[in-house]
Amino acid sequence: SALYCVFGNPVAHSRSPDIHHAFANQKADDLRYEKREAPLDDFAGALHTFRADGGQGANVTVPFKEQAFELCDAVTERALQAGAVNTLWWEGDQLNGDNTDGAGMVQDIRENLGWQIQGKRVLVLGAGGAVRGVMGPLLAEKPTLVRVANRTAEKAEILARRFMDGSNSPVLGSGLEGLAGQFDVVINAISAGLHGEMPALPGGLLAEGAVAYDMVYGKEPTPFMRWAEDQGAKAVSDGLGMLVEQAAEAFEVWRGWRPETAPVMAMLR
Ligand code: ATR
Repeated sequence: SALYCVFGNPVAHSRSPDIHHAFANQKADDLRYEKREAPLDDFAGALHTFRADGGQGANVTVPFKEQAFELCDAVTERALQAGAVNTLWWEGDQLNGDNTDGAGMVQDIRENLGWQIQGKRVLVLGAGGAVRGVMGPLLAEKPTLVRVANRTAEKAEILARRFMDGSNSPVLGSGLEGLAGQFDVVINAISAGLHGEMPALPGGLLAEGAVAYDMVYGKEPTPFMRWAEDQGAKAVSDGLGMLVEQAAEAFEVWRGWRPETAPVMAMLR
């Protein structure tokens, strides 16, 4: 059977094996998908070992996505934009990389949730690796504007400048303090969002009918989701759908057919 894995550290809680096995079972596709905890100081070694074990491709999660990007011989345009890779596969000795996170998020927002990004004012909270991963596909939806707000304002400004190049929509970076304006779609990528507190944000950021999306997921609504509901959001979602959709996108790259995501989301819920 074909061998795949997810690399992370930690990786014990990853749902990716369940997701990919569920995809494979839809067509009796014979694949094995493991968790591999790579040492923090030797991702390259872990990758090499996996290939020697017969691995054909892998997903990459925190904190190895940037290193994976550096190790690739060829990457897709969207991986280049992100400067990070979450999907790897070999063709002979050539290591290829893609980044399916942004496509997964947009797919979940547009197709599963039925929310529109085109023509909307988008606020992104955070300016770390997760934001870099989704900005390209987000801008491809043609929002009216994207405001990136981050605790460290300078990181948001640098990121905004970088994605402004070649974008049809204005991209503006700023700090969280003094954040103003009204937004139709608010996306949270502050990694403290799952367990920690939401940073204090000014009221009134959500326009009438605004929707809110958290890139993380959990059993309970996240602090960001509760904040958005308090602020009058019309709809809120966690990022479980993004997880499943980015996996489907990776699966298609590897196996050449697109799995159904809805039954897998139902299974995970
Ligand atoms: P990820 O891969 O999840 O994006 P990251 O690249 O480390 O991880 O980025 C973490 C993001 O969460 C950053 O935007 C970070 O803000 P800074 O750039 O100012 O560090 C944000 N973040 C983490 N903890 C935070 C907190 N307690 N309050 C506000 N922002 C926080």
